[in-house]
Amino acid sequence: MTALAVSGCRICGGPVTEVLDLGRQPLSDAFLRPADLAGEFFYRLALGRCADCTMVQLVEEVPRERMFHHDYPYRSSLSSVMRAHFTGTGRELLATELTRPGAFCVELGCNDGVMLRTVAQAGVRHLGFEPSAGVAELARRQGVRVRTDFFEEKTAADVLVTDGPADVIYAANTICHLPYLDSVLRGARLLLAPGGVLVFEDPYLDDILARTAFDQIYDEHFYYFTAHSVRAAAARFGLELVDVRRLPVHGGEVRYTLAHAGARTPSPAVADLLRQERERGVTGVEALRRFAADVARNRAELVALLRSLKEEGRTVAAYGATAKSATVTNYCGLGPELISYVCDTTPAKQGRLTPGAHIPVRPPAAFADPYPDYAVLFAWNHAEEIMAKETGFRAAGGRWIHYVPTVRVR
Ligand code: SAH
Ligand code: TYD
Ligand code: ZN
Repeated sequence: MTALAVSGCRICGGPVTEVLDLGRQPLSDAFLRPADLAGEFFYRLALGRCADCTMVQLVEEVPRERMFHHDYPYRSSLSSVMRAHFTGTGRELLATELTRPGAFCVELGCNDGVMLRTVAQAGVRHLGFEPSAGVAELARRQGVRVRTDFFEEKTAADVLVTDGPADVIYAANTICHLPYLDSVLRGARLLLAPGGVLVFEDPYLDDILARTAFDQIYDEHFYYFTAHSVRAAAARFGLELVDVRRLPVHGGEVRYTLAHAGARTPSPAVADLLRQERERGVTGVEALRRFAADVARNRAELVALLRSLKEEGRTVAAYGATAKSATVTNYCGLGPELISYVCDTTPAKQGRLTPGAHIPVRPPAAFADPYPDYAVLFAWNHAEEIMAKETGFRAAGGRWIHYVPTVRVR
């Protein structure tokens, strides 16, 4: 299974203009044992924009089974901020959309059950789709009902037969992972009750551009949504964008609500965000060209900083073996000679090497043993949570290196 070059827009078939090439990249969540080094998988990571529907998307598609499988290491529950976010989301869905007796909630990409456990504990009918068997098993241990499978039109049709229509289909950081969004939206339309909603949240293109957050671009993030592109995609499949809400998590996201076309009156927030996007030029190609220039400058500055620290004999580590960081290390050519190790709380990443760059991953306890002089904050989206835990680092004279939105030492 090699990566597939996409020949036109995955949604509408329109012409896709390439705007940013981030080069040869490994699978962002494939943390390696030394024995895995020889067979490492690579693809070309580049961003394109559809001239017809404005959807920003990757130009190569990695086969889904290569990314999401038994050993997929990402665990949603490791951040206390994200646990609180998803508990709040579960409570809100229960209070607003899941109030009728026998209400049914489906989640795509339920991971370790971080959101659905709140729905399960309330005794509400639910089903999580989670193709990665390892994390699916963790969700089951939380009392969540899980189908270890990919959601798409065919599996949606099965659920309609076994469980009946869904009042809510929810997905966080998952819809943007699915190149076959056409099949997913057909499946959602089929499975949703007439008054039901598809609610999903993903990184927001405007926040990515505004923060020069080029590390949001990697294999699993196939789409980079705006209200404009989501509205256009929904309309092709008989759905309508009826609400949007900006979220502060993961560096800036939008939560989109879709309903059957004509079933709900769109909230004023939709027109408002569409207007902001027009004013800010987020959907045009020029904004992406400016972003590409910012990204190149960001790389030059980060590489220059790390090289000069090495020349001065400083020790440099990193914090958070994020999927995002694969893009940074591989695009910037940062290996263990510039970053000695990276600390991370994920058990399945510890003791392994980061994809492509082959930087060793250590548990957070190794950070203070002894502290490095500098640490690159790869998990910048969890900065507050990490700063609160790692106060000892700065107290010992350590300095954080940030690269989003610009390269800074603090
Ligand atoms: N919702 C969680 C997890 C996001 S990671 C959170 O926000 O933290 C994306 C998840 O989607 C992974 O666990 C992956 O295994 C799962 N996934 C990938 N393709 C899927 C599909 N077609 N249907 C359902 N889940 C899918
Ligand atoms: P995250 O930024 O959520 O996602 P992605 O991998 O998609 O870029 O990943 C956060 C990583 O940082 C995850 O591997 C866990 C790790 N982490 C820590 O090591 N310590 C922490 O306090 C937190 C919140 C995360
Ligand atoms: Zn298109």
